[in-house]
Amino acid sequence: MTQATAPSGVAAEQAIVAKGSLTVIDNRTGKRYELPVEQGTVRAMDLRQIGVSADDFGLMSYDPAFMNTASCKSRITFIDGERGILRYRGYPIEELAEGSNYLEVAYLILSGELPTKPQYDEWVDQITHHTMVHENVKDLMMGFRYDAHPMGMLTSTVAALSTFYPEAKEIHDPLARHQQIYRLIAKIPTLAAYAYRHSKGLPYVYPDNELSYTGNFLQMMFRMGELEYEVNPTLERALDVLFILHADHEQNCSTSAMRGVGSSHPDPYIAASAAIGALYGPLHGGANEQVLRMLRDIGSRDRVPAFVKEVKESGGEVKLMGFGHRVYKNYDPRAKVIKEMADRVFEVTGRNPLLDIALELERIALQDEYFTKRKLYPNVDFYSGLMYQAMSFPVDMFPVLFAIGRMSGWLAQWEEMLQDKEQKIARPRQTYLGEDRRDFVPMNDRS
Ligand code: ACO
Repeated sequence: MTQATAPSGVAAEQAIVAKGSLTVIDNRTGKRYELPVEQGTVRAMDLRQIGVSADDFGLMSYDPAFMNTASCKSRITFIDGERGILRYRGYPIEELAEGSNYLEVAYLILSGELPTKPQYDEWVDQITHHTMVHENVKDLMMGFRYDAHPMGMLTSTVAALSTFYPEAKEIHDPLARHQQIYRLIAKIPTLAAYAYRHSKGLPYVYPDNELSYTGNFLQMMFRMGELEYEVNPTLERALDVLFILHADHEQNCSTSAMRGVGSSHPDPYIAASAAIGALYGPLHGGANEQVLRMLRDIGSRDRVPAFVKEVKESGGEVKLMGFGHRVYKNYDPRAKVIKEMADRVFEVTGRNPLLDIALELERIALQDEYFTKRKLYPNVDFYSGLMYQAMSFPVDMFPVLFAIGRMSGWLAQWEEMLQDKEQKIARPRQTYLGEDRRDFVPMNDRS
């Protein structure tokens, strides 16, 4: 940033205003500054030099909830929320959902390129051979109450993996990093399925290396007494696509948790556990669970208008879950893919009766000025829950499924953060509004 002297006349003004910069005049002092603009951003640290006196700390930007702050430079995921565009490493989400599979997309997200056949085979082989967890993890899981929420179990057991792999602390060693990446992507379906089996009081099912990533997960979830579990290819593909759709979504709440916690350099199990914790909340990964509960509460199509009225009159208290997004101000492209896929799934599972309520809700909301004015459209969670439910996943497992798909994105973002020389331990500032200095008063003297 450069500080310019006060201009005199138009010519002088044009001379000092560099292209690609922002001119700021501090009306407190009359001083004028030029702030470089790069990729549509100004550096918040450039504001620091704007002060009223030599001992002034300098200006900060105030941005609760990071509504307009870029916290990193990233090459992983591109979103244009206004136009409803989502791309991983440049590839449109619709094309990946159509032509790829989850493990290939995970490779793409992590490495930046689609794999060649030998690279793909090696990658799948590594993931397939890291799916087992230490037997002690099972004992750990046995300690949970029978009705423990699977997200609580998942976040705890992912953190517990840290204690099994002490070498994971070598986060600056690329080989050690990649070893943990294999493990986390491979083991999260195993932990997720164990959590489900625990809640059902069913024996845990070991991974089957003969099956695909998603097929193996389905057998660990649902296998009963069969000698050989037959994976339904339609459901296997549908779940695989759902994992693709959830694989990354740039700097959302859980990814920011992954990067933020990872920035103090714990091993990735600890950072991923924090990310799962962030995903658990009903405003993030817990929303699909809430959508199902909402649809059940509405109960029938004819009660939709009354519910929409309640949402509008609640002053923000009651939300239409699965609607709205911090970034998308248009139809979420992932919701479109899911909606199109739903019919194929329902052909196998039978139509989910809640679908009619969801369709009616979408129809009414998209015609209502309350929602259109605020640019509230269905997000990824609006239809995913209906599919999960039709596939026999209980609602508690919905955010867990999200976490399985998102693991590749969290890890890619974590690696990118570690390799970014500009990144340091994440430490936001605050604007202090509390009491000024005051003297301590002993308890007996307090009124
Ligand atoms: N239903 C009704 N009104 C809504 C909704 C909704 N789902 N979402 C936002 N609004 C309203 C707000 O009340 C606010 O109204 P106001 O201007 O009169 O105060 C306005 O729309 C703007 O909303 P914000 O809360 O400022 O938007 P923000 O970007 O902070 O929130 C969020 C985004 C959290 C996703 C929000 O839309 C929401 O809570 N949606 C429901 C939960 C949900 O579906 N979450 C999943 C998100 S996708 C994901 O995480 C994978």
